[in-house]
Amino acid sequence: MLKLLVDRARYFHLSRPRVLVCAPSDASPEEREALIESVRGAGVSSVAVIPEPLAAAIGAGMDLSLPYGQLIVDIGEGVTDCAVIQSGELVATAAVRAACSDLHEAVQQVALRECGLVLSRTEAERITLGVGIGTARDPASAVVAEGIGAIDGRLGAASVPIPAIEEAQNLVVDRILETILAFLKDLPASLGAQVIDNPARLTGGGALLRGMVDLISANTGLCVTVPDDPLGAVIRGSRRVLPNVPLAGLWVN
Ligand SMILES: Nc1ncnc2c1ncn2[C@@H]1O[C@H](COP(=O)(O)OP(=O)(O)O)[C@@H](O)[C@H]1O
Ligand SMILES: [Mg+2]
Repeated sequence: MLKLLVDRARYFHLSRPRVLVCAPSDASPEEREALIESVRGAGVSSVAVIPEPLAAAIGAGMDLSLPYGQLIVDIGEGVTDCAVIQSGELVATAAVRAACSDLHEAVQQVALRECGLVLSRTEAERITLGVGIGTARDPASAVVAEGIGAIDGRLGAASVPIPAIEEAQNLVVDRILETILAFLKDLPASLGAQVIDNPARLTGGGALLRGMVDLISANTGLCVTVPDDPLGAVIRGSRRVLPNVPLAGLWVN
């Protein structure tokens, strides 16, 4: 996949493109090295890796130069990444492998258990987006899902109970909330006070799930804001970082 992308960039622009990659803030040195090696293998001239919440913060339009701590939470496909940015630097980070794909998997598990229906990822995603997160509702509510019967292998549809979906998704949501709360609690007192006094930013696909912003605000007591197009924040931020990479000495050749 990387080769295909690199070849496309080569065709249009450069002979050997330079690549900027985002990694979760908790990526180990070994994981970062593996990432760099695989990108290099795709035929690029140099690679730089930056933490994803930094790119998300830039793409979300946060003013990174401010001298006080600001919180960014990026809920992506597989990772929820929290960071505090102060004077242009990430001064604290925490990440957990619980995010949108786990919410979609929860829908798949419930549909299989309750209705014997195997859902595609796309169908599970459609249901997560339609139902929303943590929105208290009627115990009899249900959503119609289409999938393949686990026993007869035939295409079919069934009503999946929404409370069962919520119960399964709450396990994921709780892990996300616990990570954010533990992160805030562990901040040095003065930094924690600054974070509380300023609005927090929520980016990534998770920011688009109905109910997510309210849930995080209610559980942390923070004022949480979502930028325009939170899904594109990391890409926008990376684009802005890219021209400055040579200056910042971030390239690994
Ligand atoms: N309105 C939406 N459009 C597209 N994806 C959405 C939307 N709302 C939530 N998502 C979810 O966002 C996730 C991808 O988020 P993203 O921040 O791009 O992840 P990553 O940075 O890890 O690639 C997907 O699981 C998708 O289901
Ligand atoms: Mg992301």
